[in-house]
Amino acid sequence: MSDSHLTFCFLSSILALIVITFIFTKRKKPTLNLPPGHTGWPLLGETIGYLRTYQALRLGEFMENHIARYGTIYRSNLFGEPAIVSADAGLNRFIMQNEGKLFEASYPKSLGGVLGKWSMLVIVGDMHRDMRNISLNFLSYSRVRFHLFKDIDYHARRVIFSWKHNSTISAQKEARRFTFNLMAKQIMSLDPGKPETEQLKTEYVSFMKGVVSLVPLNLPGTAYRKAIKARSTILKFIEAKMEERAKRVQKGEAVEEENDLLNWVVTNTNLSNEQMLDLILSLLFGGHETSSVAIALAIYFLPGCPRAMQQLREEHVEIVTSKKKTGEVELTWDDYKKMEFTHCVLNETLRLGNVVRYLHRKAIKDVRYKGYDIPRGWKVLPVISAAHFDPQHFDQPHQFNPWRWQGSNGKADNNFMPFGGGSRYCAGSELAKVEMAVFIHHLILNYNWELLEGDEPFVYPYVDFPKGLPIKVQATSSSI
Ligand code: HEM
Ligand SMILES: *[C@@H]1O[C@H](CO)[C@@H](O)[C@H](O)[C@H]1NC(C)=O
Ligand SMILES: *[C@@H]1O[C@H](CO)[C@@H](O)[C@H](O)[C@H]1NC(C)=O
Ligand SMILES: *[C@@H]1O[C@H](CO)[C@@H](O)[C@H](O)[C@H]1NC(C)=O
Ligand SMILES: *[C@@H]1O[C@H](CO)[C@@H](O)[C@H](O)[C@H]1NC(C)=O
Repeated sequence: MSDSHLTFCFLSSILALIVITFIFTKRKKPTLNLPPGHTGWPLLGETIGYLRTYQALRLGEFMENHIARYGTIYRSNLFGEPAIVSADAGLNRFIMQNEGKLFEASYPKSLGGVLGKWSMLVIVGDMHRDMRNISLNFLSYSRVRFHLFKDIDYHARRVIFSWKHNSTISAQKEARRFTFNLMAKQIMSLDPGKPETEQLKTEYVSFMKGVVSLVPLNLPGTAYRKAIKARSTILKFIEAKMEERAKRVQKGEAVEEENDLLNWVVTNTNLSNEQMLDLILSLLFGGHETSSVAIALAIYFLPGCPRAMQQLREEHVEIVTSKKKTGEVELTWDDYKKMEFTHCVLNETLRLGNVVRYLHRKAIKDVRYKGYDIPRGWKVLPVISAAHFDPQHFDQPHQFNPWRWQGSNGKADNNFMPFGGGSRYCAGSELAKVEMAVFIHHLILNYNWELLEGDEPFVYPYVDFPKGLPIKVQATSSSI
């Protein structure tokens, strides 16, 4: 072919493309009033900008710029699909309250590949209702209170009391150790420090890296491929546990673990093996990564606010002192309920830290909201962190200020949604708060700490400390 022929082919295909684009643009229903926005590059859309790493104590440059330009509800193209992004607290609540009616959860396919097709995040409809019921049974208020509480206390002490005076530790890693040990015990009766528990933890780390990987390609060497391998190793591990359990039940041996999730699911539900395994993985994932980051965030915020640190310490010293009078030693649920200021610190940590930044949904019907159209099938991303940074909802939103939660101010605010809402509201919210409070209790009674190396949290889009939040711990005089 001659050069001129090539040029001609090239030009005519360009022309065809322009004509096609023109026709398609023209044919878009003219009556739709889509939110303003920009669709970015073909295929990629604005995904790269949306996912770019940013400091966790801000809403992020991408969001800030888009809101400034288009308002709190805008249109984009993300994760390969046309999308509506909502930083509007009202719309976010509307989306969550209409789960299954107008919207439904729709996480990227790659997540299902590692978390499993029966994962809590992925399933919708009746299946979700049934699995959620099981999770809520496992994590119910009364179970947390009467069954998990003692264990939470034990595992918090086990981690915190292992630290040496004057040493440097990774707060993020230690918090993970705490929540992982707790979940491994509660789910499958695995004891901390045992080889099988450590093996599971190692596999779990590879698994996590794939869950959060930005390039979900199943190619050799990728984090995603490794995660899929780790997933199958973990599943084999859990399966072996289940078989061992079943054998012992058959032989009539006492099953001391009868209170763990594995037993509960086997005896009380009709789940298939695969469903059970995915549920267990979801709970391990949901219950470990989130609450450990939340604990690390509290450890990060407190030294920056000495007054909060002192008031917190006073509250916990008071609790221990009054217990000593009655001769009680162990921390109890009633003590937890007395931690008033601590609860302000927890809320403030969740508000400013925003462990979960946004949710993945899609519209399952054509929806109209405040004059905007959200077409059926479009991706919808409620950015639940947006309201937390909005000065209209929280005065001086970038300040860590636990006192804002005192009195009735904070309580009336329904723009605070760290745990989502509606029928997918976090099943582990109570557990997460107890974990944070109990960990803080032992930490603040026993140590002073300072932050090292200027580490700070970033959004990857999961929240993490790149250096693991190194801190230097000094035993307090009261504990020695
Ligand atoms: C500070 C810690 C935590 C935060 C910020 C958090 C946040 C969230 C959010 C925002 C959702 C909603 C996801 C969606 O709507 O798509 C969710 C769901 C869920 N969380 Fe948590 N979570 C935390 C801790 C935990 C813990 C400790 C567990 C215990 C295992 C847990 C278990 C779950 C489960 C099972 C769901 C799915 C609920 C459903 O789909 O019905 N979470 N979480
Ligand atoms: C939820 O679980 C409880 C306790 O096992 C059971 O009694 C109830 O029937 C379940 N509800 C649904 C809707 O499955
Ligand atoms: C703690 O570490 C500092 C230096 O980092 C040192 O000067 C001090 O003596 C140490 N104290 C104890 C009790 O080890
Ligand atoms: C399990 O399945 C059987 C028969 O299909 C049904 O009768 C029973 O209610 C189911 N149990 C649960 C907990 O779903
Ligand atoms: C913390 O936030 C929750 C809403 O998630 C609210 O119910 C609770 O009252 C708040 N706690 C305090 C101490 O303000």
